[in-house]
Amino acid sequence: MTPASLSTLPAPSVRQSADDGHIVRTAARVPAPTHRARVRAELARYSAAIGLTGIVRRHGSPLLVLDTARVRDQLHLLQRELPAAHVHFATKALPHPAVVRTIAETGASFEVASRGEIALLRDAGVDVGRTLHTHPIRSRADIADAYCSGIRRFVVDNPGELWKLAVLPRDIDVLVRLSFPNPAARCDLSTKFGATEVQAAALVEQAIGLGVSVAGFSFHVGSQTTTVAPFERAIRRTTSLMSELEVRTGARFSVLDLGGGFPIGYDEAVPDLAVLGAGIRTAIAAGGRNDTVLLEPGRFVTATAMTLVSRVIGSSDRVDGRWHYLDDGLYGSYSNVLTEGVHPLVFAASELTGSAVPDAARERATLAGPTCDSVDVIARGIELPALDEGDLLVSPMMGAYTSVTASGFNGLEPTPIHVIDAGPLRF
Ligand SMILES: Cc1ncc(COP(=O)(O)O)c(C=O)c1O
Repeated sequence: MTPASLSTLPAPSVRQSADDGHIVRTAARVPAPTHRARVRAELARYSAAIGLTGIVRRHGSPLLVLDTARVRDQLHLLQRELPAAHVHFATKALPHPAVVRTIAETGASFEVASRGEIALLRDAGVDVGRTLHTHPIRSRADIADAYCSGIRRFVVDNPGELWKLAVLPRDIDVLVRLSFPNPAARCDLSTKFGATEVQAAALVEQAIGLGVSVAGFSFHVGSQTTTVAPFERAIRRTTSLMSELEVRTGARFSVLDLGGGFPIGYDEAVPDLAVLGAGIRTAIAAGGRNDTVLLEPGRFVTATAMTLVSRVIGSSDRVDGRWHYLDDGLYGSYSNVLTEGVHPLVFAASELTGSAVPDAARERATLAGPTCDSVDVIARGIELPALDEGDLLVSPMMGAYTSVTASGFNGLEPTPIHVIDAGPLRF
């Protein structure tokens, strides 16, 4: 069970109370556990099942523990809720050979944006032929490298790029990327890339003139989109544009690429994938078309697969309270705090081992990374058990846009990634 799929409903219960000397039974509602409490309970069971402290004892800290079984679980969830869709994992979220191999073994494919990502797939023995190249701006050298590597499908959103692609042999095709603004997403991807519907229509005409085949359309509703409405709106507008352009230009489209954006419950609950899947299926059916549907999920596939363990390397009392300095931070695995504004939960390892820590033994603390930069603050004012030098901290859901966006600032070494395959776990 993933944290995102845990129920948020309070459990009804029965309690007894005295009223004018009589004992009456009244239905009471036990307060629902907070999101943090639910994630803590799930993480405690998972850590015990995989022997997390033993792994850290053997391999040291900081350490990212990558569980490929969780990548498979997430892919199965996508297949269950959107069974007709073909998954192209967004390699950028966690470009790790073990992830690539796991995804290839399930029969899913890939989405890439660079030469380095293509090389990773090639080195892992992946047949690159089904890979999508989605970066709408590429150097001519990158295009040649992608073609020579076997890539045949490219995303375009501007006329210049179509001209560049037109020099390739005619066994390629393109997807036209549309832009749908979504300021509510954690990362609105509509401003840097994507064509308006009017620009897209002109691109289709241009492609026809150049003899480049347009297979269909793509969009990205924004990373960490937590409601179904942006998906529904984008599907409605894209399918109606496709049908309209088929009539107007005589072209025939067969591919609808929904991009990524599926959310993860970091510090607050997000809708279950079943809810998003139902809305997406209905919106596609309402379009009345028969397209091949593609997905490009990144975060959803790998976020829950990596758990970060870090360690207190020093503590200090400052004017605003107690600070603990960890051996990983915003220039390392917590780069998602800096680049995405995500707030990963952080637990003391002692909170994950059975008995609850009494309130009196908890304190408000600020957690900072190891660099000398003042920006390097992971979380402020969070309630934790009292911590000492050497104590371990654990963050779940650290498998997307974390180690890959880390830098070597202050001479920090990249946090090692230790790969396990925990198989199906029953808690
Ligand atoms: C073109 C494209 N596809 C897919 C993704 C993956 O998005 P997410 O991780 O939100 O699923 C991204 C993320 O930036 C992207 O730019």
